[in-house]
Amino acid sequence: MVIFGATGDLTYRKLIPALYALYNQQMLPEKFRVLGIGRSAVSVIDFREKMILGIRKFSEEKHLDDQQIIEFSNCLSYFHMDFNDLGDYLKLKIALKELEECDDKCGNYLFYLSMPPDMFSIIAGNLGKVGLSSTDDGFRRLIVEKPFGYDLESGLELNRRLHEAFDESQIYRIDHYLGKETVQNLLVMRFANGIFEPLWNRNYVHHIEITSAESIGVESRGGYYDGSGALRDMLQNHLLQVVGLTAMEPPSSMDSDAIRNETLKVLQSLKPITEDEVSKHVIRGQYVASHVRGELQPGYREEKGVNPDSRTETFVAMKFFIDNWRWGGVPFYIRTGKRLPTRVTEVVVHFRPAPHTLFQQDDFAIPNNQLIIRIQPDEGILIKFGMKLPGAGFNVKSVNMDFHYSELSEVHLPSAYERLIYDAMVGDSTLYARADAVEAAWKFVAPIQNAWATNPEIKMYGYPAGTWGPENADDLIEEKDISWRYPCKNLADDGNYCEL
Ligand code: BG6
Repeated sequence: MVIFGATGDLTYRKLIPALYALYNQQMLPEKFRVLGIGRSAVSVIDFREKMILGIRKFSEEKHLDDQQIIEFSNCLSYFHMDFNDLGDYLKLKIALKELEECDDKCGNYLFYLSMPPDMFSIIAGNLGKVGLSSTDDGFRRLIVEKPFGYDLESGLELNRRLHEAFDESQIYRIDHYLGKETVQNLLVMRFANGIFEPLWNRNYVHHIEITSAESIGVESRGGYYDGSGALRDMLQNHLLQVVGLTAMEPPSSMDSDAIRNETLKVLQSLKPITEDEVSKHVIRGQYVASHVRGELQPGYREEKGVNPDSRTETFVAMKFFIDNWRWGGVPFYIRTGKRLPTRVTEVVVHFRPAPHTLFQQDDFAIPNNQLIIRIQPDEGILIKFGMKLPGAGFNVKSVNMDFHYSELSEVHLPSAYERLIYDAMVGDSTLYARADAVEAAWKFVAPIQNAWATNPEIKMYGYPAGTWGPENADDLIEEKDISWRYPCKNLADDGNYCEL
């Protein structure tokens, strides 16, 4: 495995701990080597030491065995080069052969681009030029981290440039949301059970809500984030992939293309939001300074690396439809934001009400049935339904039927990177984003990007850090008695804790 950007944060925090977890479970090939590549000259010893620290700090393994960590670190090497210099790629080719102790026929290479996006096509192109993308000797796969472009045009251009050196079947675009157990469980829940699928359509579903909330701000990534914003950073990729798995038709098999063909169809069926409709269907916001749990949190514009006049959104909520037979007329509401009251990602399927109200409720309306798929934290599934309150009369109370993954205590929940790197090694691209899906997602968000860029009248709402975003997001839901699900209260108002 050849990691470009080996001195960066991702390698240290995620990739190496994930590889160590695979090593621990004996899931790596016997002759496995990692070649970390960076611009700076770092000795192999120093590189190994830093990675060992990364494992100690970020590994999710329950018991860390020092001896085993050292053994694992012996498979790590380092090579420094100038990514723009073709001559250095020829040297890399030789370094790889030496590492493998092979002459003509070498083993399999997995290239991982953990680099700023402007380097993706340069590195891929140069690998191609020196013959490192040719599959004559073994497999050559390329894992690319997001962002896959900045908008439709740059997304198309990136795919075109990657395809000049690598075939689509060799490219693995990582979307770490697809590596999350509960996201994958959407497939199992829907297609391994007989009870859900008959209800999973416009006849029984009233609307679907997807929330991905983060309590953290932009942390040290202000510079990157300010050029991105919530729409590009979370919605265009992670959330639309979750929409794809929630709304897809049953695939004909578990073959990676069979599954990805179905999620692609969903993305292609998203009803376009025209530029004129953007202000009505999409709400954007930016957090402003506020007290959260008694502590003053800075506003987005005060964060390091952020332009003090920034118009970048840290919150986005939207309403849209999927124009197909299954979902025609069913509203989908999605929202994501930073500095919200808690960290939670969930899909909520709201079912239609019972056709006739038999049981009167004096104080409050009986809530419709909900199926909540909690992607994180406390991964699990919850069904809400009405039960009779014991005693006289027929008073109805909404109760929960709850399953938590943590109850399967004997099961190891792999981290997203662990699962995805393993899949790339065995050539399973099911959980990776295909070029056509990325392009379909860019196409859907393009009018929103254009409207925001060209129409200054479209409002950017401020919201106090620690709240659920601008209240205007509530206006997206026009029906009375229906609102977003709020798993916990605004921390900025009352300092209350969250109960999921
Ligand atoms: C990343 C975004 O892709 O996903 C981050 O760039 C975001 O801004 C992160 O914080 C969220 O991932 P998770 O797994 O913590 O929900």
